[in-house]
Amino acid sequence: MAELVGVYASSHGPMIVRSWPTIAPKWKDTLTAAFAELGRRIKAARPDVLVVISPDHWVNFSMDNLPSICVGVGEEHDGPPEPWFKEFPHRKIAGHPQLAGHIVEQALVHDFEPSVSYKLALDHGFCIPLWKAGIDPLPPIVPVVFNDLEPPFPAVRRCYAWGTMVADAIASFPGKLRVAVLGTGGLSHSIGEPTMGAIDEAFDRECIRRFEAGDPPALFEFLNRRLPAAGNGAAEVRNWVAAHGAARGKGFDLIKYDPIPDVYVGCGFASWKV
Ligand SMILES: [Fe+2]
Repeated sequence: MAELVGVYASSHGPMIVRSWPTIAPKWKDTLTAAFAELGRRIKAARPDVLVVISPDHWVNFSMDNLPSICVGVGEEHDGPPEPWFKEFPHRKIAGHPQLAGHIVEQALVHDFEPSVSYKLALDHGFCIPLWKAGIDPLPPIVPVVFNDLEPPFPAVRRCYAWGTMVADAIASFPGKLRVAVLGTGGLSHSIGEPTMGAIDEAFDRECIRRFEAGDPPALFEFLNRRLPAAGNGAAEVRNWVAAHGAARGKGFDLIKYDPIPDVYVGCGFASWKV
């Protein structure tokens, strides 16, 4: 049987890469240290496969076709298509069709109806944390795309349930695999709207406190109330909620949080005990 060996979360703001040369040295040091610690923890868990939950930033999907949840079930995926992210060394990223297929099968048994893709382009949401954390060589990736971009969003409690379902699917996978889960996105940020660049530090710190408290119903109530007013990028906290679900809502351990104006994002990094 496969084993869940780690659960992690990371911000992925595109300016972390696109604007790197102009970021203040203090914040570069902060981000470098946080990603390094995230990478150290992931590598220490020695995963054979990473299940990475991220939004799609209009790369694979559009308003013509916007699935709530899509699982990448193919043999391989494409590297980031963003023209400013050419440095990412992996233009092809191996998938793990067996585990991905098993997760989809278990999802259907447990009242989810995810869409699937046999070839996803993995944009900065997937690739910034993997690259900056120094996860090289990359293990095969099972990409899971959540719609955090445009309503209707998946309900917060369903994101948590997705995470627990994934943990159960890993436990029932008939193969000897070490599997880690990484949720990427958030915390608060505001992109392409009148509050562009605003970071809601109070929201972010309360999110962290609630992840630490490990009380899922209280977390859902808080997010349902506060998410809509924390900037459109805060919708990506759903991916942290899925990670929280994979860790059964307990054992949250913050690596670092800082509201970093140079990248327009409340940047958070965390792991859970599993
Ligand atoms: Fe994003």
